[in-house]
Amino acid sequence: MTQQAVFSELQAALMQAVVGQPELVERMLVALLADGHMLVQGAPGLAKTRAVKTMAALIDASFQRIQFTPDLLPADITGSEIFHAESSQFEFLPGPVFNSVVLADEINRAPAKVQAALLEGMAERQVTAGGKTHALPELFFVMATRNPIEQEGTYLLPEAQLDRFLLQTNIDYPDLAVEREILELGRREERQPLTLAPIVSVADIMSTRSQIADQYMSEAVQNYLLALVVATRDTAPYSSKLSRDIEHGASPRATMALDRCSRARAWLHGRDYVTPDDVQALAHDCLCHRIVPAMAARARGIDSNAIVDELLNLVPVT
Ligand SMILES: Nc1ncnc2c1ncn2[C@@H]1O[C@H](COP(=O)(O)OP(=O)(O)OP(=O)(O)O)[C@@H](O)[C@H]1O
Ligand SMILES: [Mg+2]
Repeated sequence: MTQQAVFSELQAALMQAVVGQPELVERMLVALLADGHMLVQGAPGLAKTRAVKTMAALIDASFQRIQFTPDLLPADITGSEIFHAESSQFEFLPGPVFNSVVLADEINRAPAKVQAALLEGMAERQVTAGGKTHALPELFFVMATRNPIEQEGTYLLPEAQLDRFLLQTNIDYPDLAVEREILELGRREERQPLTLAPIVSVADIMSTRSQIADQYMSEAVQNYLLALVVATRDTAPYSSKLSRDIEHGASPRATMALDRCSRARAWLHGRDYVTPDDVQALAHDCLCHRIVPAMAARARGIDSNAIVDELLNLVPVT
């Protein structure tokens, strides 16, 4: 089976388990293939956890779920040094982060230092404990979920930490037809629970990643991508009004993210070159969580989503 066929099968299996969310499914594959981490945001009951757990079950690699709660400690994520009295030596006991696929569920329910422990591992692919560094596995894919409805006992993720996520996907309520499908799926599963067998191996993922690294991006598309990201910091060439709406624009990490994600999407669509469509399709997921709208804009109900919409309208495709 070709790599393309393997990933089509993975995509189909995900679409069967999580109905009516084709974009979420595509973004999960993009994040996996672009070697990044993903944040899924949505109201309770929209199958965030289900989507991530299904994805993990379809990848033939070690998996661990971490349920974030207010009483969690950093060592509960990274692991800790255990003292052995007989040998008078310390031994490192790896925490749940030492797995290939990690579900960080409801990440905003743990305090900042716990979030930081995970985010550090995500950015540096290693954990330091007792003065020693321990490398994380070759395939290291974190999918986090978060509920945007701020409640008591939740902790905001600072923008600087959000930047560590390659992309953030927001999911919304389904329409009536999809709601009906969910209902019917739920009934079928009541009678016969879903069984999932792995479809992709770590080797599949690694070899596809190297194909994606060779994906062609024309200079015109590259210039468009760069113009889009730079415009989040300086919209003056396009609109002076919009510059006042943005307090902080996206970092160069966003440029790299949009580049990698666009190439991965092109590959998933069976192309060996990137089109402006790929860039546009991923602009929101790569940029929104990295843009801080100005206070005055927020007061007028303008969020980073609206800002990216506007940028896509303003920046011409080259
Ligand atoms: N699009 C969907 N496809 C299939 N099942 C769905 C879908 N949306 C909701 N469901 C059903 O809703 C249930 C709730 O999903 P899940 O627990 O994953 O939600 P969640 O988004 O993680 O919620 P919370 O924020 O409360 O943790 C699922 O087990 C599933 O039965
Ligand atoms: Mg959940």
